[in-house]
Amino acid sequence: MPTLNWIGKEAVINHHLDVPFHLLKDVPELGCSDPGSGNLIVEGDNLLALKALLPYYKGKVKCICIDPPYNTGNEGWAYNDNVNSPAIRKWLGETVGKEGETLDRHDRWLCMMYPRLALLREFLSEDGSIWVCLDDNEIHALRYLMNEVMGANAFVAQICWESRYSRSSDASFSVSHNFVLGYSPSPERWKHKRNRLSRNDEQAAQYKNPDHDPNGPWRAIPWDAPNIRPNLEYPIVTPTGKLRKPPQGRCWSRTEDQWNEIVRSGRAYFGRSGDGAPSFKQYLSEASGIVPNTWWSHEDAGHTDEAQKEIQDIFLRKAGFATPKPTRLIERILQIATNPGDLVLDSFAGSGTTGHAVLKMNAAQQGSADTPVVFHVVALICIHLQSLAA
Ligand SMILES: C[S@@+](CC[C@H](N)C(=O)[O-])C[C@H]1O[C@@H](n2cnc3c(N)ncnc32)[C@H](O)[C@@H]1O
Repeated sequence: MPTLNWIGKEAVINHHLDVPFHLLKDVPELGCSDPGSGNLIVEGDNLLALKALLPYYKGKVKCICIDPPYNTGNEGWAYNDNVNSPAIRKWLGETVGKEGETLDRHDRWLCMMYPRLALLREFLSEDGSIWVCLDDNEIHALRYLMNEVMGANAFVAQICWESRYSRSSDASFSVSHNFVLGYSPSPERWKHKRNRLSRNDEQAAQYKNPDHDPNGPWRAIPWDAPNIRPNLEYPIVTPTGKLRKPPQGRCWSRTEDQWNEIVRSGRAYFGRSGDGAPSFKQYLSEASGIVPNTWWSHEDAGHTDEAQKEIQDIFLRKAGFATPKPTRLIERILQIATNPGDLVLDSFAGSGTTGHAVLKMNAAQQGSADTPVVFHVVALICIHLQSLAA
């Protein structure tokens, strides 16, 4: 498997093993229930915090959602997006040693990420998954890193999220997207357990009811399919007596017995004329959710303006945080990758969007179930809580 090399790599690949265990200090005046009884926010560097949490949550987390610094080089945000804060400089100096003085920002980012991802891997349950948001600055490097830390066969999907709907007039290319990269320790198992997404209004609107069918809106699914199979080439007679055969080079999608069942149940459809190509009615009420795809439009997953509005509404327009994610984006990940009762972890919490998304999903769950089962955020780990509170 090809691997990525950078200055400082040797010093960091086993560093997570050397990080000492710490005890977390409870701050009762900031808590709202018994320590250890539910959601958790840990303030501090995530390397130390993750190591402190590991004995409690190793192998138990169903979904890790992280949005690490993108490494844009911007040093003026609530956090340093050039991997150049005094704390990270000190850590790099101690960990990488003399070689650390020559690191560029990509080396620094990789040194920072490797041991943190190595620790995060330990938290995942076998059927769990990890989702990482990034943009063009480091996505290519992250793919190599994730292949190495999670395993090349652990890749699930690289989602392109339409993070912006407006265009920059002064750019050579106006960038409209970010990425969300997903891995799972057992992608095959994950595939069978992951959830489908609910249909949006546009998708649901494809189901109509022109004939006032009492079963509600439906859409016609053609009965023909690619390839040729002798037992799938039987003739079908339309209500007007016309004989229909599969189109040239195709066959029917299922057997004659199955077609007869479609006819018996009143689902056969031959177009408005009544003697068109055979199809069957799929009712909206019976249609399962849709398989997630790798293109997430801003209509479905939100956008960065929406994220700013959400955070400004919470902090009464005083939030000095430039890079929040919209809750709809994180909710979409959680919809696919979690079920009630699961544990969720975010170790680059920022303004706390992952926690917000989990609370929103819990609230929706409580509204619909007699005995609500809640998701828990194992931990949101922040080093810049104070910048939001200020
Ligand atoms: C891109 S922002 C995350 C934004 C977040 N998803 C939101 O919606 O608000 C990255 C966050 O990671 C935090 N961070 C960077 N290095 C960290 C570290 N070593 N430990 C803990 N947090 C860190 C930064 O302070 C920043 O808040």
